[in-house]
Amino acid sequence: MLEEKTGIENPYVPERARIVRKYDLTRDVRFFQVRICDSEKVFPMTSDYRPGQFMMISIPNVGEAPFSITSTPSRPGLFEFCIRKVGKLTSKLFELKENEFIWLRGPFGNGFPVDKMLGKDLLFVAGGLGAAPLRSLLLYALDNRDLFGRIFYLHGARTPEDMLFREEFFRLKERDDFECYLTVDEDPSGVWPFDIGVVTNLFKYVKVNGKNTAAVVCGPPVMYKFVVEEFLKIGIPDDHIFMTLERKMKCGMGKCGQCVVGHKYVCVDGPVFTLWDVKNIKGLI
Ligand SMILES: Cc1cc2nc3c(=O)[nH]c(=O)nc-3n(C[C@H](O)[C@H](O)[C@H](O)COP(=O)(O)OP(=O)(O)OC[C@H]3O[C@@H](n4cnc5c(N)ncnc54)[C@H](O)[C@@H]3O)c2cc1C
Ligand code: FES
Repeated sequence: MLEEKTGIENPYVPERARIVRKYDLTRDVRFFQVRICDSEKVFPMTSDYRPGQFMMISIPNVGEAPFSITSTPSRPGLFEFCIRKVGKLTSKLFELKENEFIWLRGPFGNGFPVDKMLGKDLLFVAGGLGAAPLRSLLLYALDNRDLFGRIFYLHGARTPEDMLFREEFFRLKERDDFECYLTVDEDPSGVWPFDIGVVTNLFKYVKVNGKNTAAVVCGPPVMYKFVVEEFLKIGIPDDHIFMTLERKMKCGMGKCGQCVVGHKYVCVDGPVFTLWDVKNIKGLI
């Protein structure tokens, strides 16, 4: 039954993974690149998941929590995560050094319905830590560029120092096969070379065929309402607007009931939902 739901052999048993590389993305968000220790599982686990899925990361005797996979299955071998230091587990994760271990269960969740996005224009809107799951889908789409129409990536942060993957996006902006626009709310040190203002200001650059576009948004909850209004103005249908939602989770696989909203388990039926779901399932957002 569990195997049916999650597709994983024994989803309760975590896999040990070695921290290969880590560095700070911002003052409180750290990037972790990890490799599963069991060499036979490295390729199957890191090549067979959907962007938008998450892993349960744990440290024995400390805790366990869900974290979005920010790497892409089109570049197998490693898992990558961006982790914000907020509490017990994440503080302990920040103490770990390269070559030390963490434990992983998963991947869990529905992820983005990539098959339904094939042939469509893609419009991404990321705010803050929301860039973590969206980076996975963006890199996947760029690695399979011929399968999608035009691609627009809009990314907002509070200040230049708060922008996740800033240098990576500066490099990606040089590519001519997709359009990447970056903005910051404020630029206290006066060094920012791009737009200043909220992320919705970047919609002026977007030129997509609304009816044939899949839009994805992930960021702080306050952003969703304004971004969704912009999606609707462009004419993107409710069931082509995807958002990733967060709920406190325990098991990550539809067993404990911790994440239930209405008749949905956010850990299994989500964390990716459409605007149609959000309008029809009370309490989802
Ligand atoms: C599907 C999913 C994907 C996630 N992806 C990421 C990610 O990529 N990077 C990342 O840094 N975090 C992510 N999170 C959030 C992460 O799981 C929590 O921050 C986690 O609880 C941290 O554990 P902790 O023991 O350090 O903090 P805790 O001690 O559990 O909590 C510290 C503080 O954060 C609050 N909190 C905990 N979880 C949540 C939540 N889900 N929503 C709002 N407030 C919460 C607590 O109430 C408390 O105030 C994700 C959550 C979900 C559900
Ligand atoms: S976290 Fe246990 S049911 Fe979703």
